[in-house]
Amino acid sequence: MTQDELKKAAALAALDYIEDGSIVGVGTGSTVNHFIDGLAGMRNRIRGAVSSSEASSKRLAAHGIQVFDLNDIDSIPVYVDGADEIDGGFAMIKGGGGALTREKIVAAVSKRFVCICDASKRVLTLGRFPLPVEVIPMARSHVARELARLGGEPRLREGFVTDNGNLIVDVHGLAISDPVSTETRINQIVGVVTNGLFAERGADLLLLAGSQGVERLQRP
Ligand code: 5RP
Repeated sequence: MTQDELKKAAALAALDYIEDGSIVGVGTGSTVNHFIDGLAGMRNRIRGAVSSSEASSKRLAAHGIQVFDLNDIDSIPVYVDGADEIDGGFAMIKGGGGALTREKIVAAVSKRFVCICDASKRVLTLGRFPLPVEVIPMARSHVARELARLGGEPRLREGFVTDNGNLIVDVHGLAISDPVSTETRINQIVGVVTNGLFAERGADLLLLAGSQGVERLQRP
């Protein structure tokens, strides 16, 4: 199977966790695009969705799925999203698509985080994938200097502006032995909006697609 076929298998498995009559939290990325396309087949059984990006909102709307403003919603039973890396404790690096801040916000309002991945995303230690950090534009140089002090090599994502009008700095070569403390430390840098470590609030369920099928793994 190709990587894209594995992404699709993981994404379609997530449909099993969608509750009838609910509002679904929807992430961003190529794996989530398969999930949205699958969700279209059951759109009459859900109330609608809360989305984590303009791209996902557009795809949901094109399928006739109503997209709600998060401020009008008290709680979301299930949030479905991909990841760039996920470790054994279900901490993740996310934000390869630059939607990390809205993803983290929608995840925070959701009861259950269902992570959909192909098997290549599973790692022992986070950090081979460069850690995305969303930054207020005027703080770009300051934040880069602080990230370098933490031992990483910050690189501005050229020509990219987030849905929130900010920049992304990708941090290469960070040794992330303690994801929760690294997440907290980077969020304390003035000018950082959020970083792509999802450790404080990791995934609850991992749907991991490999050549043998989709494994359904609960957070240890
Ligand atoms: C976007 C994300 C995505 O979930 C992550 O980049 C994985 O993407 P894909 O499903 O395309 O491999 O965090 O900000």
